[in-house]
Amino acid sequence: MTKEQNPIPFYTHGITMAPMAGVTDSAFRRICMKLGATCLVTEMVTAAGLSRKSVKTKKMLRYHPDEQPIGVQLFGAKPEDFARASDLVTPLGFKFIDINAGCPVKRVLRSGSGSSLLGDIPRLLEIIRVTKENTDLPVTVKIRLGLTRENPVPDNIGELVAGAGACAIAVHGRFRSDFFSGDVNKEGIRRIAELSPVPVIANGDSTSVEAALKLRDDTGSTGLLIGRGAWGNPWIFRGISGGNPHPEPGELHSTIMEQLNMMMESIPSPQVFHIFRGHLVQYFRGFYGAADMRRRAVGTESLAEVDIVAREADIAMHTPVEDI
Ligand SMILES: Cc1cc2nc3c(=O)[nH]c(=O)nc-3n(C[C@H](O)[C@H](O)[C@H](O)COP(=O)(O)O)c2cc1C
Repeated sequence: MTKEQNPIPFYTHGITMAPMAGVTDSAFRRICMKLGATCLVTEMVTAAGLSRKSVKTKKMLRYHPDEQPIGVQLFGAKPEDFARASDLVTPLGFKFIDINAGCPVKRVLRSGSGSSLLGDIPRLLEIIRVTKENTDLPVTVKIRLGLTRENPVPDNIGELVAGAGACAIAVHGRFRSDFFSGDVNKEGIRRIAELSPVPVIANGDSTSVEAALKLRDDTGSTGLLIGRGAWGNPWIFRGISGGNPHPEPGELHSTIMEQLNMMMESIPSPQVFHIFRGHLVQYFRGFYGAADMRRRAVGTESLAEVDIVAREADIAMHTPVEDI
């Protein structure tokens, strides 16, 4: 595919914030985009829920105008749910529809969704076909290397999904049985990329700028999906684009407050603080005194409390250890 024919280069050849249910909400996505992510994806949204027109599910489709370009990720098991869901999401301004064939969580597997689809490639291809038939948006798919080491997806999976209508494939370099642990298997991604007629986006363990660039280069992929490495460290996007990979003095505090304020636009107190604590503890890592800051973070219950601990963490982060 030439660049002219590629409708979503910001995804296929970019650095995208990976979808992470319970993490990559609108506020965090906006922070990532501001700091250099070239593309965003919603958390996974149930195709069956959309197809039932569930109000709660539809809420998950909300995004802010600053979150562009953004794709919507659907998960499900039944082609007919994807047909109705893709019809519903098409007019909402998303730049592409991504199909989740990688989630290893039990609740998702029980319904035959997520990585279960890797054990039934004909069904995965049918889902791609049906989605494509019901939208004029580009369709992409996110997979793992297979169910288990003994049950890998075929190396020509790129060719198969392209034949069904997908224009890109993201590959998390682990098997379902690995869950989220163990080293990422770059060789597995490379074998898929080598044979794929559509761009391959590499995913897994991009915990630093160096690791991310090496993952892309070692696997011959065109783009990157960054997951846990960006949680509490959205500056990784700026670093990969050649800028400072660390927060400038004052920036840890201002970023935390910006994210919290954006969350408060749509989530009431005190619920918002319960959710935000999960982000705060991620921000407080890798500097002298971080463990103490994390202990304080889990007790925060107001904007003022977050403000104080974030300000102190910012100072601690930028204080050389020999000055303490
Ligand atoms: C808390 C959490 C939630 C996730 N939710 C999703 C999801 O909704 N959709 C999806 O395709 N992958 C999801 N993932 C997987 C990530 O997108 C990514 O593939 C995985 O974390 C590996 O990349 P990383 O090593 O850079 O984190 C999730 C991962 C985590 C840790």
